[in-house]
Amino acid sequence: MRPLRIGIAGLGTVGAALIRILTEDGDAIARKLGRRLIVSAVSARSRSRDRGVDISPFKWFDDPVALARSGEIDLYVELIGGEDGPALASVTAALENGCPVVTANKALLARHGVALAAAAEAAHAQLGFEAAVAGGIPVIKTLREGLGSAAITRVYGIMNGTCNYILTRMGNEGIGFEECLKDAQTLGYAEADPTFDVEGFDTAHKLAILASLCFETEISADQVLVEGISRITQADIKVAADLGYKIKLLGMARKVENGIEQRVHPTLVRKSSAIAGVDGVLNAVALETNHVQELLLAGPGAGGEATAASVLSDILDIARGTQVPPLGVPSSELKPCERAPMRIH
Ligand code: HSE
Repeated sequence: MRPLRIGIAGLGTVGAALIRILTEDGDAIARKLGRRLIVSAVSARSRSRDRGVDISPFKWFDDPVALARSGEIDLYVELIGGEDGPALASVTAALENGCPVVTANKALLARHGVALAAAAEAAHAQLGFEAAVAGGIPVIKTLREGLGSAAITRVYGIMNGTCNYILTRMGNEGIGFEECLKDAQTLGYAEADPTFDVEGFDTAHKLAILASLCFETEISADQVLVEGISRITQADIKVAADLGYKIKLLGMARKVENGIEQRVHPTLVRKSSAIAGVDGVLNAVALETNHVQELLLAGPGAGGEATAASVLSDILDIARGTQVPPLGVPSSELKPCERAPMRIH
């Protein structure tokens, strides 16, 4: 079978990790897949920046939209980030061209997911987004393929590695918020603008995507009540600990009488609970269904390698000709509720 030609736009932490994995594991992947994956073209803001990977063998495009519609690739990987701009323009261009897309961009999907899913369906092109929620945890595939006929009643979890890393270190080492954030940036966990992490918007984007899949509703990040962790102090963490709790930034969505309630805020979790043990950059997603009491999926939530591994799992599905789980167009009568009032659970 002829090789699958991949175009990658956005060569930050995840893009560089993906190139490294595809290079290092190229033979093993080709053996397993019966087909070689080759990076044929790339695009990024800077051509000369040192990323620790050699991009000279790949055709260079200044403009990701030109790459996406070049016809020289069989699959477009969008790792640019941002909800509009070149990310939206290039993903739209690829799909309109019938070219399958894999993206890790939760902000893009939270804002334009339904339109992009419709564009993908119209062009019979696949849109893979496993890496957009909870980094390296295969939560999208589990939702679509792993629950049988069970109906989800509640989904909640730790969906931002940066915040969990900060809260964990503040709790374990007594270090201040700013220092922990700086380390999370150095380690490549944080978004380009870390406000998205620490003010809870990144979690809200991921929650809106998850809630839409769990409850077959429209994606609505605007209806998520959002409070981040930037005002959490050592004193808060200590009082919580004295009472037997940890503070975690949770995203939560559940069925309520008038629709789907979505909320993101710092939450007290009992130290003895499973989710309290999910520390550092790890994420966890808990699914409650009418059949399974609670399924807890945990794993690395941020960082180049973990996120690139999820991107690669979508690439492999598309290369095999397997249908990636589609981003649903809403099929239930349920709607996300108006932003919920803050209250104690
Ligand atoms: N900044 C995100 C996080 C990256 O910390 O979880 C993964 O989406």
